[in-house]
Parts: sequence; structure tokens; C-alpha cells
Amino acid sequence: MAASETGRAAVPVAAAPDTSRFPTSARGSSGIAPHPRRLGEPGPLADKSTAAMRYQSPLRYPGAKSGLAGVIGDLIGNAAAELGTPELFVEPFAGGASTGLRLAGAGVVRRVLLADTDLLVARFWQVAAADTEWLIDRMWNEPVTLERWDHWKAWQPSDPQDRDIAVKCLFLNRTTFSGILHGRAGPIGGRKQESAYPIDCRFNKEALAARLRFVGDLYASNRLADVWCKDWADTLTDVAEWYPQLIPNRVIAYLDPPYWSKSPKLYSRSFDPAGGYPERGTSMPGERGKSPLEQHNWLSGLDHYRLAGYLCHHAQVRWILSYDDHPDLTEDENLYAATQMAPSPTDADRQDARQWHITKRLVDLRYSASATRAHRGKREELLITTLPGSSVPLDDRFRAYPSGRRG
Ligand SMILES: C[S@@+](CC[C@H](N)C(=O)[O-])C[C@H]1O[C@@H](n2cnc3c(N)ncnc32)[C@H](O)[C@@H]1O
Repeated sequence: MAASETGRAAVPVAAAPDTSRFPTSARGSSGIAPHPRRLGEPGPLADKSTAAMRYQSPLRYPGAKSGLAGVIGDLIGNAAAELGTPELFVEPFAGGASTGLRLAGAGVVRRVLLADTDLLVARFWQVAAADTEWLIDRMWNEPVTLERWDHWKAWQPSDPQDRDIAVKCLFLNRTTFSGILHGRAGPIGGRKQESAYPIDCRFNKEALAARLRFVGDLYASNRLADVWCKDWADTLTDVAEWYPQLIPNRVIAYLDPPYWSKSPKLYSRSFDPAGGYPERGTSMPGERGKSPLEQHNWLSGLDHYRLAGYLCHHAQVRWILSYDDHPDLTEDENLYAATQMAPSPTDADRQDARQWHITKRLVDLRYSASATRAHRGKREELLITTLPGSSVPLDDRFRAYPSGRRG
């Protein structure tokens, strides 16, 4: 049995269970296996230079919380004294995956697993991981022009495994206003391309190639364990089923859902509605979880309640959740007012029902998509976690709620 970076024994890899129940929507001919990947022993990176850089993700992502990665890394480092270095860090709302990439590159966690319900995003990460040089070649050969923007905008895959889905994601993300993949957002520089910032101003191929190679390096070294195209609930359920030897304490899920407040205003103005959903009628064949109903569910709050219900009553793994700071989140009993996980009546008798303490803190982000222009850089983010309370500091950086607020 290998030793982990904290000196604790690493958990052995499980025998593979029946995989027939796993969805096939994002399976690839690209080298990502048609079933969840077995956990390999993480090795050194071939090239450490990108791991030390400020930005590592090839994607610009609406709401990206790159400022939070250090904070989350510190929490996990603190918790390691009690729980050990996490064997698996799961990001079920991966988006630009800025936190997972940073923590895996730095070795704060042994492996990351990325998942997103948006096929464009999930397929991008799959191809970037397992077919890195193919994607880099395609990128170098891709003219960054308005004509190609129109091409990719209109292009629809007939096969959800098509590797060109990754090219579409990368191209549109780097050439569209605010990195928006779906909906009506236009190209950077406008249709007339008269701006000082033309369509290719964020398409530095050399820098992107380095970031893509970093993703490939993480995957080849087993630090990026796998990429799934799933709804967050399926991701969390399937992690517990697929890696039972890591449950409960050797997996940490980091959840960064679409914002609670301002979503309609924020997303309709500059970001993708509901943090990644396309507008009505823009779904691609083979895409899962893109129905107008689900889009509506985030915007109306239904999915926020579904997430809170799962995390506070059913979650099998330790979790960290980041949200825009809004009183609803901590005052509503059906969101995160509770200070303790409580099994639902049907789960109460189960041996594995979790009753972890729920700790809440406010942290500063240097930049947050939820900030108004005047307050950009000063915005506080709400962190909620079931990591052991002793590992969550209470200081200038991790602030308690103002009096009258719970947590
Ligand atoms: C706020 S963004 C995450 C940003 C990410 N933390 C980063 O640093 O770039 C939310 C992501 O969640 C995804 N998403 C939205 N609803 C989802 C769902 N039901 N299940 C899984 N992913 C979902 C969106 O496609 C989007 O990529």
C-alpha cells in the first residue's frame, strides 16, 4: 500500500463494479473509457511550470472562482490533520475547473474528478485530458475569425462523442463575450470588429497550448482521475458507488452552483443563464440536462433547494459549497439555516447516515461575478462546509457571520 503525501496510508483502488448503469452520453473514442476510470497512483507532473502560474484553466468561465482556490486549499490542508490528504476531490459543477486544476497540480489533493452537465464543457475536459495533442493541433490550425465563430455557433454534433465538441467549446469560450457558450452572446469585438479588442484577443495559442498540456499532464499522471458528463446528483451518487473504499472521509466534493441571487439579471446581461445552460431550443442532440425546465429550475430556485436537501440530508462525502452571500441561503430552513446535517426520516435508521456539523464563513474574493462594478474586488463569498469544524479557521480571512446571522 502506497503512502499518501501526509504519510497516511493511501486507500487501495476498488474492484470495478458493474458499469452498465452508468450513462453513456459523453463516452468517447478519445481515450476516456466508457466507464468510470479506476483510480491510479498519482505520479509527478512531467512539467511543473503551468502548475505554478496564476491561471491554469484553458477556459474562461462565467463566475469562475479562481480566487477561492487558495482558500479551499487551505481548508483542505487544515482538515488533512484529521482526515488525511483527500484521495479524490470532486467538482460536480466543473465549469472552468479552476479550483480542481490548482489543487491537483499543487498536490493538495491526490486526484480530482471533474463533472458538468453541459456536454460542451464535459467533452472539452475529456478531450483535453485524454487527446491533448489532437486538441492542440486542431487549435493551432483553427483560424480565429468571425467566419469560424459563425461556423461553430451553428455547428451541431450528431454524435455526443465527437471530439469536435471540444473544439467548439474552446473556440466559443475564448472568442465570445464573457466566455458564454450558449445563447445569444456575440463575438468579442462585435459583428463589425471595430473594437480595440478583436475576436482573437483572448486566443493566445501558445498560452492555451501550455494550459492544455497541463490538463493532459494531470490526466497522464493520474492526478485528474476522470471527467463525467452528469447532473451533480448523479455525480455524487456515482462517486459513492464507484469508489466505496473512499467513503466517507477520503472524498471532498466542492460545489460551485449557479448563483442564488441576481442570476436572471446577471446572466441575462453578461453571463450564461443559470451558469451554463443554453437558452430554450439550443440543446444539441445527445446533451443531457439541458431542458428549458431545468434552466427554469435554477433560475426559480428549485434546483437550489434540491441541492440543499441533498447536501444537508443525504450526502455521503464531506463537502464545501460556495455561493454568493445572500441572507436567504442561511436563513431558510430548507436551504442552509441548519448547523448540523440531519438524515431524512427515511435515512435516519441507516448506519451510514451522516450528521456532520455545518460550518459557515464569509471570505473575500479578489474578483467575483456577483460583484457590482463599484464593489468588484470587495465581494464576500459564502463558504459552507462539513469539513471538521476545528479545521475551519475564524479570522480575518474566514469571517464569522455578523451577529444575528447563524453559522
Ligand atoms: C458557476 S459555474 C462553475 C464555475 C467553476 N467553479 C469555475 O471555477 O469555473 C457552474 C457550472 O455548473 C454547471 N451546471 C449547471 N447545472 C448543473 C447541474 N445540474 N449539474 C451539473 N453541472 C451543472 C454549468 O454547466 C456550469 O459549468
